[in-house]
Amino acid sequence: MKQPLGFLTLAFCLLVAVASPTPATVGHSGTSDFTRNANVTNPRPLVVWHGLGDSHSSPGMLQFVSMIKDIHPGIFVHSVYIEEELDADRKAGWLGNVNDQIEKVAGQLNEIEQLQNGFDAIGFSQAGQFFRAYIERYNSPPIHNLITFGSQHMGIADLPGCAPGPSYFWCIFARRAAERGVYGSWAQNNLIQAQYFRDPTRLPLYLASNNFLPDINNELPEDYSLPPTDAGHVTRNNTYKTNFLSLNKLILVIFTEDKTVVPKESAWFGSYAPPEQTSFSSLIQFMLSHTPLAPLSSLLGKFGWTDDKVIIPMRLQPMYLEDTIGLRTLDERGDVRLESCVGEHMRMADECWVDLVEEFCGGQL
Ligand SMILES: *[C@@H]1O[C@H](CO)[C@@H](O)[C@H](O)[C@H]1NC(C)=O
Ligand SMILES: *[C@@H]1O[C@H](CO)[C@@H](O)[C@H](O)[C@H]1NC(C)=O
Repeated sequence: MKQPLGFLTLAFCLLVAVASPTPATVGHSGTSDFTRNANVTNPRPLVVWHGLGDSHSSPGMLQFVSMIKDIHPGIFVHSVYIEEELDADRKAGWLGNVNDQIEKVAGQLNEIEQLQNGFDAIGFSQAGQFFRAYIERYNSPPIHNLITFGSQHMGIADLPGCAPGPSYFWCIFARRAAERGVYGSWAQNNLIQAQYFRDPTRLPLYLASNNFLPDINNELPEDYSLPPTDAGHVTRNNTYKTNFLSLNKLILVIFTEDKTVVPKESAWFGSYAPPEQTSFSSLIQFMLSHTPLAPLSSLLGKFGWTDDKVIIPMRLQPMYLEDTIGLRTLDERGDVRLESCVGEHMRMADECWVDLVEEFCGGQL
């Protein structure tokens, strides 16, 4: 079947663009009082990776980097780019093959002399899981501490909602089209967000067809008692675990009012439970399906009226329980910190990041 390429891209980009203009909005305040680590003689370098809709040297990123240099005088900071040209770099946040992009970044970091003894990393939004993939697959030079802000470690389960308004019906239409095509091979090779789309109602399809997330999460069909698929990722890669365990600290930051990342708990390795695991919704569906109202039960699902909003928290995830990437070991070692920022996606008020950057970045190398 021929994919409606242009349309699918358009549908995706419109949806994501409407709901997630995510250049980090960095809090603004006097910076002189940040100079607190003046006695570190050789601070560990830092690599930052911007989020969707942003570029490596946007005003927001430049400001963030400059504030970090006030906090850690003398620190070397590198801002990851896929493309040097800013518009092309921004576009690469939507379009491309994420595995190729991460490979490119691995090459880029490997060539920077200042990073050769390791570095700390800050990933904004989707870059958080991209850095995690870098650690698992390459980690050369190695990451010491990783801080991820509002990232999608368990993917996104939904495309951004459609707001009532003049384009409501178009939006619904685009959404349906994007959802249908999300696991097609074209989307999986060209649309970045499709490559971490983890639909709890279609886990077998996700495991079989998603190009990126099941691999870096070392998720296997067996984890879900699902039939094996013919996907490439049928065996766990233990290198991922070994590499991930070399991390010193993992700091996972959630935005408390995040409406862009669905569910926001993905920042903490949370995900929606598959529908069959959600008792209330299955009870209602069961009751309805045994009455003359049976057609209604599927209708309710179509309108998004389900309570499959039960979150599986990190410590109950199969990938955690089975320690597929070493997350559990890291956590039990006391090296996973769950932190919150109050506000919407990527609202980086000083209170939410300065302390973390002071504590986990720029340590003595
Ligand atoms: C220097 O750093 C040490 C530990 O890193 C800290 O305890 C001490 O207070 C610092 N001294 C000054 C003058 O900032
Ligand atoms: C596991 O990952 C490492 C690092 O990316 C890679 O070199 C290796 O080929 C992978 N092994 C398998 C079996 O895929």
